[in-house]
Amino acid sequence: MNILFCCKDTPAEPWLQGLAAALPGARLSVWAPGAPAADYAVVWAPPQQFLDEQTGLKALFNIGAGVDALLRLRLPPQARVVRLDDAGMAVQMAEYVCHAVIRHFRELDALEAGMRAGEWAYRKPRQRQDFPVGVMGLGVLGARVARALAQFEFPVNGWSRTPKALDGIRSFSGADGLPDFLAASRVLVNLLPLTPDTENILNRDTLARLQPGGYLINVARGAHLVEDDLLALLASGHLAGATLDVFRTEPLPAGHPFWTHPRITLTPHASARTLRDESIAQIAGKIGALERGEAIAGVVDPGRGY
Ligand code: NAP
Ligand code: GLV
Repeated sequence: MNILFCCKDTPAEPWLQGLAAALPGARLSVWAPGAPAADYAVVWAPPQQFLDEQTGLKALFNIGAGVDALLRLRLPPQARVVRLDDAGMAVQMAEYVCHAVIRHFRELDALEAGMRAGEWAYRKPRQRQDFPVGVMGLGVLGARVARALAQFEFPVNGWSRTPKALDGIRSFSGADGLPDFLAASRVLVNLLPLTPDTENILNRDTLARLQPGGYLINVARGAHLVEDDLLALLASGHLAGATLDVFRTEPLPAGHPFWTHPRITLTPHASARTLRDESIAQIAGKIGALERGEAIAGVVDPGRGY
């Protein structure tokens, strides 16, 4: 079995070693133009030339959860696209989002700034029920995040394409359910995949429907957010702040207004990183299953876009 590795900005050697150890007998190599035909590929943002040449691939294993960049390319029609299915990302995302929600709710920025200024000053405790959190996307990551938030006893709403029944989470679904979901939420967490239906979904109209003093946490993709609309709603005071991990252009360009905005907290697309060992174990397990003719989880539906 031939497996090609074609991952932008990712050192190949540790992946090749890990995959070789997990798949004895497989021939592994880094793709270069003109490489012999392969059965499987492990990819992240591959060039179109790779896909045009490797027309016989049975499956492409994306080393991330989001497949938006891959689905923009012309893919071999028979090749399954397989996303990472948690592989250690869900717990990282739960940590990150709970941290951001709690940091905002408990006013930790203001308390820390006060201490730096030499002030020992309490703030009146805020009520949890005044901070309902809405999680957009209740998939592998969103469902884990919603459950973690519910453990901290925040009221949690969830919005997905199809209805869900998750303990302790109020479920909303479909385009018709979006206005009620937003009106029921004050803190908004975006964990949607980027598709034609969800691009620019965080805009003036949707964000204005959040309860006053709203707070945005975008951990999915930068193209979900209309950046100028966020800035306008922060300026108007309807939104109290935002935590952003993803951006329309990454790295965030020098001079972008987000860099210095006092009410925006930034991280460099770091909320849930691909963990190599967990990912290799998952990919190797799925290649084994496909070779035995078994079904696997995490196969993307290109028509749906996720
Ligand atoms: P997933 O398992 O595919 O779940 C997607 C969820 O979104 C599902 O609940 C789906 O609804 C819902 N959805 C999709 N289209 C919708 C629409 N038009 N309206 C309403 N709901 C819709 O994805 P995941 O693994 O949780 O990951 C989500 C995204 O997180 C990824 O696509 C990626 O962009 C991002 N991500 C970011 C980082 C980071 O470091 N910042 C790391 C990993 C992933 P149904 O359940 O009804 O299908
Ligand atoms: C990271 O953004 C991913 O999609 O895994």
